[in-house]
Amino acid sequence: MKVVAFNGSPKINGNTYHALQLVGKELEMAGIKFEIIHVGNQSIRGCIACGNCSMKQNEQCIITNDIVNESIQKVKEAAGILLGSPVHYSGVPGTMKSFLDRLFYVSTSNGNLFRHKVGAAIVADRREGGISTLNELNYYLSYSEIMIPTSNYWNIIYGTTPGEIVQDIEGTQIMRILGKNMAYLIKIMASSKGIVEAPEKEDKVYTHTL
Ligand SMILES: Cc1cc2nc3c(=O)[nH]c(=O)nc-3n(C[C@H](O)[C@H](O)[C@H](O)COP(=O)(O)O)c2cc1C
Repeated sequence: MKVVAFNGSPKINGNTYHALQLVGKELEMAGIKFEIIHVGNQSIRGCIACGNCSMKQNEQCIITNDIVNESIQKVKEAAGILLGSPVHYSGVPGTMKSFLDRLFYVSTSNGNLFRHKVGAAIVADRREGGISTLNELNYYLSYSEIMIPTSNYWNIIYGTTPGEIVQDIEGTQIMRILGKNMAYLIKIMASSKGIVEAPEKEDKVYTHTL
């Protein structure tokens, strides 16, 4: 069992990385493998809305010069996904947004590849905009029939200089508990296979607001 985490910070060893590690440590202690993929330092353009992924049903984005396609397969093989992001102007930084739009659009338009994975999101910020950024990340998970574990507060941790978040003792507890609950949910999902029947998948109904 494995959780794949995506770090949306441009900094490889910044606060988002340290926050992801706090969650990852709990997962590893529970026997779950943990990998962080650094997204925020890459060159990743946004979705061009060409519809190719939906038409071809090949589980691929037509843009092939970045880490999106390999990441789709990594999440597909994993038991869980963890989205980590710093707050930039009260939102998800542009590179991470470009990455997530394409990752999740390919998934949902190809029969919902991440359905029933366990998934959570965390954010690191200096002062304000944590909730709106966390909501933004959770939109991707909740659109995808992903099972979301919780903590004892919203998954936000505070710090400015890289590593400073370790001083946020409430934040570190939030990450720790999230990691434990995520591991617990992954194990429940795995051990219920063949015992508890998953609900039948429904084809997505698309309407539009007139
Ligand atoms: C371009 C930019 C915009 C930022 N905007 C916000 C903001 O709106 N609210 C906030 O609290 N912190 C903001 N910050 C601070 C970062 O969110 C904060 O330092 C965070 O811990 C950085 O995480 P990292 O080290 O993983 O990159 C901003 C930082 C940058 C570089």
